[in-house]
Amino acid sequence: MVEFKRPLIKNNRGFYVKMKLVHRHGRLQAQQEKSSNLFFKYYKWLLWVSLSLYFFSSYFITHKPIPMYKTEYFSKSTIVSRVLFESTNSTFLQHPKNNQGLLKDLKIYIYELPPKYNTKWLANERCSNHLFASEVAIHRALSNSDDVRTFDPYEADFFFVPVYVSCNFSTVNGFPAIGHARSLLSSAINLISTNFPFWNRSQGADHVFVASHDFGSCFHTLEGRAMEDGIPKFLKNSIILQTFGVKYDHPCQDVENVVIPPYVSPESVRLTLQKAPLNGRRDIWVFFRGKMEVHPKNVSGRFYSKKVRTEIWRKFNADRRFYLQRHRFAGYQSEIVRSVFCLCPLGWAPWSPRLVESVALGCVPVIIADGIQLPFPTAVPWPEISLTVAEKDVAKLGRILEHVAASNLSIIQKNLWDPAVTRALLFNNEIKEGDATWQVLDALAQKLDRSRRTVRILEQ
Ligand SMILES: *[C@@H]1O[C@H](CO)[C@@H](O)[C@H](O)[C@H]1NC(C)=O
Ligand SMILES: *[C@@H]1O[C@H](CO)[C@@H](O)[C@H](O)[C@H]1NC(C)=O
Ligand SMILES: *[C@@H]1O[C@H](CO)[C@@H](O)[C@H](O)[C@H]1NC(C)=O
Ligand SMILES: *[C@@H]1O[C@H](CO)[C@@H](O)[C@H](O)[C@H]1NC(C)=O
Ligand SMILES: *[C@@H]1O[C@H](CO)[C@@H](O)[C@H](O)[C@H]1NC(C)=O
Repeated sequence: MVEFKRPLIKNNRGFYVKMKLVHRHGRLQAQQEKSSNLFFKYYKWLLWVSLSLYFFSSYFITHKPIPMYKTEYFSKSTIVSRVLFESTNSTFLQHPKNNQGLLKDLKIYIYELPPKYNTKWLANERCSNHLFASEVAIHRALSNSDDVRTFDPYEADFFFVPVYVSCNFSTVNGFPAIGHARSLLSSAINLISTNFPFWNRSQGADHVFVASHDFGSCFHTLEGRAMEDGIPKFLKNSIILQTFGVKYDHPCQDVENVVIPPYVSPESVRLTLQKAPLNGRRDIWVFFRGKMEVHPKNVSGRFYSKKVRTEIWRKFNADRRFYLQRHRFAGYQSEIVRSVFCLCPLGWAPWSPRLVESVALGCVPVIIADGIQLPFPTAVPWPEISLTVAEKDVAKLGRILEHVAASNLSIIQKNLWDPAVTRALLFNNEIKEGDATWQVLDALAQKLDRSRRTVRILEQ
């Protein structure tokens, strides 16, 4: 499924040559600092001049960055270095890129790791299809992109580290066991930082990871434990693509991050819409299917969904306008496409795949998760396509939704059914302009732009 376009070995050969150059250069510098030998100083001067001349001239002849030339200028992160490098070309800065140019300009290097870090897990078909599968989907889309993917790490703006941590499904309940996430990631970082110079160069600042489960890179399902454990130190300096996001301080997002949508298979959406179109009959007024505990248990001091789902069940189970189901049903998408309002209450974490499924199937999401940070707010006008109800107000849901149905429902539906909205929330095998992977790249490109601006300001 994830196709590797070039074998590891071939790719590494060039890399080792570059490494040698870098190492030799590094040793030379060290010697230079120690030695007071006149001859050596002269030699050093001569070498510097000739090296500089060589790189200077070859830059202007070829217009192609030469690995060593670039490495010399790498300061804390590649982001900055690319800026320094490119700021020699003033026209570059004067033309802000349009959307079309984005994918052409941004360059991402994807590490090719042994299968145990990623592709091995695909043996289980669920690995690339469940709600956490954006870790697979983004890797796949980037791998398939000729525009954004670069095989030359020296020209990369960002480094993608493809480690799948959500596919060790428990044989007991089928949920992903993520106990091994920290050790698998740490081992991957150990591998890339000893074999490649790029991690050390930036301390990981230009390295990108996906952490798509409940509490991002805290790697625990229970919020209390997740907060206690925190984000592992080795990820703290990197960029995390995560489904988890809240608008207040939280230890599990205390890292440079991009909030991404949970994974929903675009193929499943397409199949559902083939049978029932977006603007077809919607005979269910309010829909929710999922875990609703009648007597919620106190798990380490917390209750599932902060008892919100229990309250929904208690209050509206007998209400004929509400279609509430507590058990799993594989065909639930056919129910969403028949519904006007779809409840998206928090579970253990604030987000759920319902956010994406409701949007993609044209059912107005009713978001009940205080402080949730929704994905791609510039591409998806959430306030215009959804409703937000405070957790404390769930008992008033009936009245709130009646009011909307009587006033602005058709406007919300019209906004919601704009194909661009759904496109932004779905990951495709190949990047499509405006789709979820594209939005991730857009967010990364903005991080690049921010550094460009910073450097420009510093230069003035
Ligand atoms: C400067 O950058 C622009 C846009 O990227 C490019 O078209 C042009 O060839 C570059 N010029 C030089 C002198 O590098
Ligand atoms: C998968 O999870 C189980 C616990 O559920 C653990 O014992 C096992 O080591 C994990 N597998 C890997 C490859 O990490
Ligand atoms: C990066 O730093 C680590 C720890 O200091 C070191 O073990 C490793 O060899 C370095 N990697 C490279 C490629 O120099
Ligand atoms: C939940 O259980 C914890 C002990 O695990 C206890 O300290 C706490 O008071 C309980 N909370 C409620 C609301 O019952
Ligand atoms: C629709 O009405 C509700 C309730 O008055 C309001 O909260 C919401 O912002 C409105 N949405 C739009 C898109 O007009």
